[in-house]
Amino acid sequence: MKAIRIHKFGGPEVMQLEEVPTPIPAADEILLKVYASSVNPADYIIRQGGNELLRPLLKLPMGLGLDAAGIVEATGSDVTHLKKGDKVYGVPNFPGDGAYGEYLAAKATQFAPMPANMTFNEAAAIASCALIAWNGIVDLGNVQPGQRVLIHGAAGGVGSLAVQFARAKGAYVIGTASAHNISFLKTLGADEVIDYNTQDFAQILKDIDLIFNASPVRDESVRFRSAEIIKEGGIFVCSQLDVPLSEALLNAFKARHATGTLVGGGSISYTSSLNGTTALVEAGKVKAIISKVYPLTDVADAHRECETKHVRGKLVIEIRKEI
Ligand SMILES: NC(=O)c1ccc[n+]([C@@H]2O[C@H](COP(=O)([O-])OP(=O)(O)OC[C@H]3O[C@@H](n4cnc5c(N)ncnc54)[C@H](OP(=O)(O)O)[C@@H]3O)[C@@H](O)[C@H]2O)c1
Repeated sequence: MKAIRIHKFGGPEVMQLEEVPTPIPAADEILLKVYASSVNPADYIIRQGGNELLRPLLKLPMGLGLDAAGIVEATGSDVTHLKKGDKVYGVPNFPGDGAYGEYLAAKATQFAPMPANMTFNEAAAIASCALIAWNGIVDLGNVQPGQRVLIHGAAGGVGSLAVQFARAKGAYVIGTASAHNISFLKTLGADEVIDYNTQDFAQILKDIDLIFNASPVRDESVRFRSAEIIKEGGIFVCSQLDVPLSEALLNAFKARHATGTLVGGGSISYTSSLNGTTALVEAGKVKAIISKVYPLTDVADAHRECETKHVRGKLVIEIRKEI
């Protein structure tokens, strides 16, 4: 089968499309015929050699690609909730051989049935971002109807789902984005959008119940200014996994009897996040935002575009055409 492999860390050019053996699923795994993947900041961060958190986990040669959607080709003997022929989506083996390839083997628990009203490209566009946005807004954020929610980086892959999740749960949603994304985000369900290039959210907002930082840009001043406008007892969740939150920042939230936390750790449940997302997609309350579809042969160009940090929604890698 054909798959992307890297033999050294570096720029987009280190990704090579190679002939590799089709994997054999273990007892608790599925073999997935992959139709689509997508590009995430984690993909280019890993390709570049990782950060302090990821570096010890990376072993060359390796594949890339967080998201996968496709059809179950075979199941290991212990797999009971999926069967051959099921259409599924999920986040395989992070960080491992990834989803930029024609087949993959991964734990069945990392996958769930796809929303019935989505294409493979759409499902691949939302899988990992759904895990993170669900974790931030629902699991850790515990969003409640009527709450005021601020989402930094609202137009990206994670942010555009976070806006829709918060809206679907009945919150009043405020997003930050560049000017060209303001009307897009209002269509998606945001009640207010602040252009972070020309306006300081901390001068405009106060008493925010939940702040979710879904920006790909690590900016400590955004975190501290978030602490200034959080409601007493509010929750700040940061999607940026590359550093622990500093003591000074945690103290700034504590001073407002608020909590500052990072997504992930043990708090992500693949099953509840993916099934919860599927229910909202099938109810017509959440959709995938795809700005461009690249073939697997052009994955380097897709990485270059993602690294601009200004993609609206997602860049999909189409591995096979859906018939
Ligand atoms: N995707 C995942 O599975 C995953 C997993 C774990 C952690 N995370 C983390 O979640 C964060 C977001 O990931 P993502 O996939 O959503 O990234 P992304 O899609 O690449 O984010 C792109 C968006 O970021 C916005 N943006 C750029 N600079 C900004 C700034 N200074 N302030 C506010 N918004 C800004 C852009 O909006 P404008 O063009 O409107 O400026 C653009 O729409 C990253 O830190 C990532 O590492 C993601």
